[in-house]
Amino acid sequence: MRQQIVAGNWKMNKILEEGLELTRAILEKVEKPSGLVVIAPPYPYLRELGKMLKVRKHFHLAAQNCHQEEKGAYTGEVSADMLASVGCEFVIIGHSERRQYFKEKNEVLAAKVNVTLARGMRPIFCCGEPLHIREVDTHVGYVAKQLKASLFHLKEEDFKKVVIAYEPIWAIGTGRTATSLQAQEMHHAIRVLVAKKYGKIVADATPILYGGSCNAQNAADLFSQPDVDGGLIGGASLKAEDFAAIVAAMKK
Ligand code: 13P
Repeated sequence: MRQQIVAGNWKMNKILEEGLELTRAILEKVEKPSGLVVIAPPYPYLRELGKMLKVRKHFHLAAQNCHQEEKGAYTGEVSADMLASVGCEFVIIGHSERRQYFKEKNEVLAAKVNVTLARGMRPIFCCGEPLHIREVDTHVGYVAKQLKASLFHLKEEDFKKVVIAYEPIWAIGTGRTATSLQAQEMHHAIRVLVAKKYGKIVADATPILYGGSCNAQNAADLFSQPDVDGGLIGGASLKAEDFAAIVAAMKK
């Protein structure tokens, strides 16, 4: 079976003490996950949380973003090198909130993917369409463009480290989840695209996560779809009980 992953994207939530408490509670509630559990806290807590996760099998640390340049005069920014040096193994890249609020374009995201891989970390690359695109039924083409522009320049050996997260924008933080069939349709389409570019073996091994109002109630249904390999969780990752239930819903 493909690698299954549940990743919690805390976004800009929790102060340090709350984050530590949440992590403690998650570690207590999650016993033997059937896949990888990834936690993406805000930058300032990475090192401390990383130490807590490191001692537990299957738990991994992620950053929510990184800068595309290696280093230099970019006040306020954080490089891939820095993230690797505090123990990050994954970096979320291309989240729709970064695309929308910080105007991150496909080319910049391609550069972020490159620096992440160059520092030995795995990108969790987000793609997904806005509502008006879904309504005119051009969502598959829209997502295909995002993948081609930011990932398909990679050599096969690098692409193999990539995790894809399909997050329809209309489902993020709205309580409106994609149905499991809508998720499956897109995940399958993504896998077909990857197969065309990198071959079936690589495509069959690529984890494709679903994100967007995924919660303790609907996770099992979403994850039961053949091409859904886990989830990238926002709101529900901020509650230990809910996050643990989502982790438990991963395919066995
Ligand atoms: P919600 O789970 O809050 O809808 O957020 C999804 C998301 O954006 C994860 O990256």
